[in-house]
Amino acid sequence: MRTRVYVLFSALVAVSIVPFPPAEAAAGRCGSVAVRPWCDRSLSPAKRTALLLKAMSRPEKLDMLAGDDLFGAALSETSAVHREGTLNGVPRLGVPGLRIVGGGAMGVHQGPMTALPSGLALGASFSTAAATGNAAINAVEARHRGNDILLGPAVDIMRTPAAGRAFESFGEDPYLTSRLAVSWIEEVQRGGMIAQVKHFPANNQETDRYSTNAVISQRALREIYLPPFEAAVREAGAGSVMCGYNLVNGKASCASRVLLDTVLRKEWRFRGPVVTDWIAGMKDTGTTVRDGADLEMPIGIHYTAGNLLQAVDNGQATWADIDRRLGATLRMMFRFGLFERAPRANDGKIDYAAHAVKNRRLAEQGITLLKNKDGVLPLERGTRVAVIGKPAAEFRSATGSAYVRPRSHVTPLTALRARGGVTYADGTDLGEAAATARAAKVAIVFVADHREEGEDLACLSLRCGDEELGDQDALVRAVAAANENTIVVMETGGPVLTPWATSVKGVVEAWYPGAQGGPALARVLYGDVDPGGRLPVTFPVRAGDAIMPAGKGRISYAEGVQVGYRRYDAGKLPVRYPFGHGLSYTSFRMSGLKTSGSRVSFTVKNTGRRTGYAVPQLYVRLPGSGQPVQLKGFTKFSLKPGRSRRVVFTLDARSVSTWAGKWKAARGCVAIGVGASSRDLPLKGRLCR
Ligand code: BGC
Repeated sequence: MRTRVYVLFSALVAVSIVPFPPAEAAAGRCGSVAVRPWCDRSLSPAKRTALLLKAMSRPEKLDMLAGDDLFGAALSETSAVHREGTLNGVPRLGVPGLRIVGGGAMGVHQGPMTALPSGLALGASFSTAAATGNAAINAVEARHRGNDILLGPAVDIMRTPAAGRAFESFGEDPYLTSRLAVSWIEEVQRGGMIAQVKHFPANNQETDRYSTNAVISQRALREIYLPPFEAAVREAGAGSVMCGYNLVNGKASCASRVLLDTVLRKEWRFRGPVVTDWIAGMKDTGTTVRDGADLEMPIGIHYTAGNLLQAVDNGQATWADIDRRLGATLRMMFRFGLFERAPRANDGKIDYAAHAVKNRRLAEQGITLLKNKDGVLPLERGTRVAVIGKPAAEFRSATGSAYVRPRSHVTPLTALRARGGVTYADGTDLGEAAATARAAKVAIVFVADHREEGEDLACLSLRCGDEELGDQDALVRAVAAANENTIVVMETGGPVLTPWATSVKGVVEAWYPGAQGGPALARVLYGDVDPGGRLPVTFPVRAGDAIMPAGKGRISYAEGVQVGYRRYDAGKLPVRYPFGHGLSYTSFRMSGLKTSGSRVSFTVKNTGRRTGYAVPQLYVRLPGSGQPVQLKGFTKFSLKPGRSRRVVFTLDARSVSTWAGKWKAARGCVAIGVGASSRDLPLKGRLCR
């Protein structure tokens, strides 16, 4: 009977608005309120925490400041019980433990699961609905595999296109990243998981990742790197925050009083735990426990009982400090109902088939059409197509803690073959590739890079994007010379150089599109669905124009706020494909811009012959020299031919403010640009206050 009730309720989880699924609530699990006053659910999490701290012994407290398991219950990633970390509770007092699993936009890192499109693919969706859809799958899978905390989302801004973990990010813009992160976190937490937003803050490259010191101005921190964290904490109520491996302005992120105590806890009123990235360096135990990270993962290195006692003995820290650190974790556990529910199990209740269908739709939302000369796309049914390149026959992804091994997947080659008329060459022999291309009406070359946690790309070129794939630029050139209708499909974890862009007719960026990337691509290429993506990152013409990772421990963020498209604009640099760009199979016209008060409105009309996705974007430029053009509004909708829609964006105070020791709203007039990318803003206006 119990099981049946559980099954019934688990189906409702996706729409549940309580902090954890109702089926899991077991009133009285915590214990009798008379004996354990912290079990009183009518009290606030803060009150309950204070009561519990009074009852805990000192050894019990010390024990809960660090995790208990080095990389999971089982070391093998293929094991059903593998997870990233655990924290043991205190059974004597009814304090539950925590089970922590890796995850993020690409899915749950726990053996074979639903492998979703990458973070950049989600960024490219320009859709908060897609973020919600992605998060819903993450929440269900993480929960039914027996976890409490999901180690995502990664909201670090993509500062350099060569970043090894660029694929995890939502792109180079803080506004886009913030909006997607808020929807993602809200849904993950609605689905009964606790999100852990990471890596706080300015964790933007992998070179020397355990020791780099990001030297960065307060303005750049506030305007570029902190906003997604601020939105995650203040708007979405993220349950936990992960501090990064790096230092910021000379202080370890996990031991920075200014960042953790002044900004995160006092200014943003974050009440949950700051958790160290896995084996992140702190400073010494005493300094850190005073106002640094709350919980050390996955095991105690600084927060061992011995070190903590010594810090108290020599006056570096007090028991009140220890209570404050532990209190943050306990408060989160009360807030998310952990004391009231049974520990979760790997209960086999995941509908992977349903998730596969949703996964395909998510991939379609991110696939970005960058070039479509002579309307080479969509393909007509029955066209003779040469598919070239190994990536067409593979599941492409990145390696690292965000990697998700797909339970099943469909490659682009399989999905395209199902349409008929396809020949294939893997591209290792240029002569064979050219001959295959020549014999077909259209040639589609698949190229890819390989990104990994722990290492940045040595170069941005597809000549060296992946050792096993060899010189892919040469492959594209050989195919383009053989077939005038050549289309390049990229599966990359960030921007790469496209020196052949002018000699091919079509260019599509599919990112790492996940396990259903094949069918999604086939549907986009054949026009069953409009390409949904817009670029969340700029594609530069030359590597030298981009910021590249720095070595030797110190990274000077000398560019300040000129990051991503702001940088290329400030330097008046040509770009291959601008931020926000992405074509549809139909055409849109924007007109009728009106500004009044803080509102900007305009009309979007589908002037083409097909139904398509419109993604109008609003950019502002504050008065004063050197102010960047910046995204402050976007929306996405499907529009039928001939139809129009009036769009209204409202700018809040923050959207027109700059950081000068505090947020200062612009005086005078703000320049407004509305259009289809950061460099295509046909509607211009001013908003004067
Ligand atoms: C990564 C984190 C990840 C953690 C646990 C670390 O190496 O930087 O992003 O959550 O491992 O897998």
